[in-house]
Amino acid sequence: MTFIGTGYLGATYAICYAELGYEVIGFDVDVDKIEKLGKGEVPFHEPGLDEMLRRNLAAGRLRFTTSYQETADFGDVHFICVGTPQRASGLGADLTYVEASVSNLAQHLSRKALIVGKSTVPVGTAEWVEQLVAKHARPELAVEVAWSPEFLQEGFAVDDVMRPNRIVVATKTEWSNSLLHAAHKGVFDLAATEDREVPVVSTDFATAELVKVAANSFLATKISFINAMAEVCEVAGGDITQLARALGYDPRIGNRFLQSGVGFGGGCLPKDIRAFQARAQELGAGEALRFLHEVDLINLRRRQRVLNLAAGLLGRKFGPAGPDLSGARIAVLGATFKPNSDDVRDAPALAVAGMLSRAGASVHVYDPQGMENAKRALPEVEYAKSMVEAVTDADLVCVLTEWAEFRNADPVALGEVAANKLIVDGRNCLDATAWKSAGWTLRALGRPT
Ligand code: UGA
Repeated sequence: MTFIGTGYLGATYAICYAELGYEVIGFDVDVDKIEKLGKGEVPFHEPGLDEMLRRNLAAGRLRFTTSYQETADFGDVHFICVGTPQRASGLGADLTYVEASVSNLAQHLSRKALIVGKSTVPVGTAEWVEQLVAKHARPELAVEVAWSPEFLQEGFAVDDVMRPNRIVVATKTEWSNSLLHAAHKGVFDLAATEDREVPVVSTDFATAELVKVAANSFLATKISFINAMAEVCEVAGGDITQLARALGYDPRIGNRFLQSGVGFGGGCLPKDIRAFQARAQELGAGEALRFLHEVDLINLRRRQRVLNLAAGLLGRKFGPAGPDLSGARIAVLGATFKPNSDDVRDAPALAVAGMLSRAGASVHVYDPQGMENAKRALPEVEYAKSMVEAVTDADLVCVLTEWAEFRNADPVALGEVAANKLIVDGRNCLDATAWKSAGWTLRALGRPT
């Protein structure tokens, strides 16, 4: 089998499926990425993946290429894993990479094959992919299309791929259905050895496409719901962490994705809720998803809230353009959109660092894994080599990604190097009692001060 596009999704799948025993090729147009992967280097941070890559390269089950011909000749099942970023103009998804990869692959096929979409796409894309295949593949090959969305979470990607909590498949013929089943056999076999079952939902193209964006919309809504409650807690004097805990005990609600803080970011949730709204609008169902606009607004308001908390703690005045933070030195702890990742795409932490800097502060960012990506995405702030270096002489500290290093930091030791013991806990991840008893003034989102 082959995985076309070796970004986060495709590289992880290629490596994990080789680990499951399949013969795999990973394809990408990016020569650098392919060279790195071929040498055993994963181009992003994902726990457990490096070692697995090297093991499978050495075993000869896995290789990487930039050749469509080699890819087309190698596989019977080709998974399309390319990115579908937000369009430069508007909220919809940009399908340029889907179009290029499907058309090129289809042109190079010389035998019947199955092309399976995995990328997150607007509903209707699978039918369009079928038309692309019909246009570019030789008709006598009768190449087929199927859809099977993925649900992997960065930081847990290996387990999410090898041990998925469900598999969704949309196929149109018995042939493609049994081929896709065989392509997942490794996952089912692993589950059997661990006495688990992986539920399979077999459905139509539209539903398979919708499952993915519906799942991400639900997760985004859950996070914005708890953050909206945090806004109310702040004015009413409630404590969002206790409220979330109490809600989570109700099994109908569940306690996951109720962590209130500076909000969601990353390469998926923000862009997916926007693209879903744009697509629903095109289909005449815009009203049904209007609430997702509110979910987005609640989320973006969290960033402003951190800025305001910081200004309040520093005793700064608010002008018409927002607070003036000139002359203040601020340590921002965290740059990635969540811990155990080096991904800074749409990261709330980095967005807040930029806002603090634009308000006039001298901002010193430190992140355990995201420094290289952060420096490229936000070059206008300072970067420290360690947490202690960032906090040294800081007038204020903002914790914006809940890395273990920050959660477990020693408030006494940091208090000795900081200029002021002022801290904003933007992820409700610190032990407020410990920080306060070390003399810090701590403000958290949605909690009494
Ligand atoms: C998300 C989904 O969780 C995956 O199921 C999906 O497959 C993936 O997008 C995708 O579309 O490819 P991911 O982007 O890795 O996965 O990140 P999440 O773990 O969902 O976290 C998203 C953001 O929400 C992070 O910024 C995180 O800090 C924030 N978050 C999460 C909260 O603010 N509170 C929470 O309780 C949970």
